[in-house]
Amino acid sequence: MKITLSVIKADIGSIGGHIRPSAQLVEEVRSKVRDLGKNLLIDSYIGYTGDDIAILMTHTGGVLNEKVHKLAWDTFLAGTEVAKAQGLYGAGQDLLKDSFSGNVKGMGPAVAEISFEERPNEPFLLFAADKTDPGAYNLPCYLAFADPMFSAGLILSPKIGTGFTFRIMDVENTEGDRVIDLSAPEDLYDIAALLRDQERFVVESIRSRATGEIAVSVSTTRLHNIAGKYTGKDDPVMLVRVQGNFPATGEVLAPFTIGHYVAGFMRGSHHGALMPVPRNTGTSFFDGPPIVSCLAFCVKNGKLTEPADPFDHPYWEYVRTKVSAKSEDLRRQGFFGPAMLPYSELEYGGIVERLKKMDSKFKVLSGKEEVKA
Ligand code: 13P
Ligand code: 13P
Ligand code: MG
Ligand code: MG
Repeated sequence: MKITLSVIKADIGSIGGHIRPSAQLVEEVRSKVRDLGKNLLIDSYIGYTGDDIAILMTHTGGVLNEKVHKLAWDTFLAGTEVAKAQGLYGAGQDLLKDSFSGNVKGMGPAVAEISFEERPNEPFLLFAADKTDPGAYNLPCYLAFADPMFSAGLILSPKIGTGFTFRIMDVENTEGDRVIDLSAPEDLYDIAALLRDQERFVVESIRSRATGEIAVSVSTTRLHNIAGKYTGKDDPVMLVRVQGNFPATGEVLAPFTIGHYVAGFMRGSHHGALMPVPRNTGTSFFDGPPIVSCLAFCVKNGKLTEPADPFDHPYWEYVRTKVSAKSEDLRRQGFFGPAMLPYSELEYGGIVERLKKMDSKFKVLSGKEEVKA
């Protein structure tokens, strides 16, 4: 049976700043999806990571399905009314367009979708991150799908060892989706040369070279490219099919022990170490840290199991302590150097005005001339 997994997520309001949605808001989203999805969806799951609510849906309508996207949009609009009524912070924050036109891509919410013929057993992972952007998944994708140091299956399993094709998107191109397809292992250094630049080049999807099957889909929205100004961080979602012809669940999880530095954190303007957290975790220190949750499901004829929560396990307590220490180290230097994002990433914020005001006060000194104050 060919089914589609669609995850659409948005920040439509949160308690006490950018921490987490209210219980009433999550319940409104749940009941709206139940009502609107009656004759459209096979199954759904709703959860939150930081201040973002993710709606996972299964259906047979294919990717970019207008009805499914409209359901999510209308649900977020209804949720925004609850957020406003409760006085939540940033009500409707990620709904950047006034009217719906076909699908929610480019309208603010993050979308990742995969359509496939179900295998006899079909395990997959749903990742949701907050206080960061889509490039946060570059390193974990590279290590899980191209590096045997993390992904033992690349040398132990012939089907996985055939390698994977990465579709990488240039997210700075706002005219259309500018992508390149590169295959590991042959193009490994080209893949690395692009993925190192997390703010510009982003893994969009990954396919098995052995079967052509899709393994990964990542949301690639850059909100500042839509809004033309800073309106919040992109807070990306990712779907990953696992086992069989794909890496094992544990191989996909392994790179998240690094707690690599990603863009985001306070005002979306800093670097911080990405912390793996259990589902429905809010944010805290310095409007962060950047967090990522992972839920593992199986699906049969579109029906979802309950999720297992791999980051809600004692092993990750040690990892979280290490990750906190990494963020703390960088935070000690405040706004200096790599602690804060480069100007190109801040250009949609107030710092542009500040620098503009100073520009005319600069003077160029000529020769040995002394300049009087
Ligand atoms: P099992 O033998 O427990 O199924 O594990 C196989 C596997 O894929 C481990 O990564
Ligand atoms: P969100 O994108 O998660 O709403 O965070 C925005 C922000 O500016 C936090 O300081
Ligand atoms: Mg927010
Ligand atoms: Mg958020």
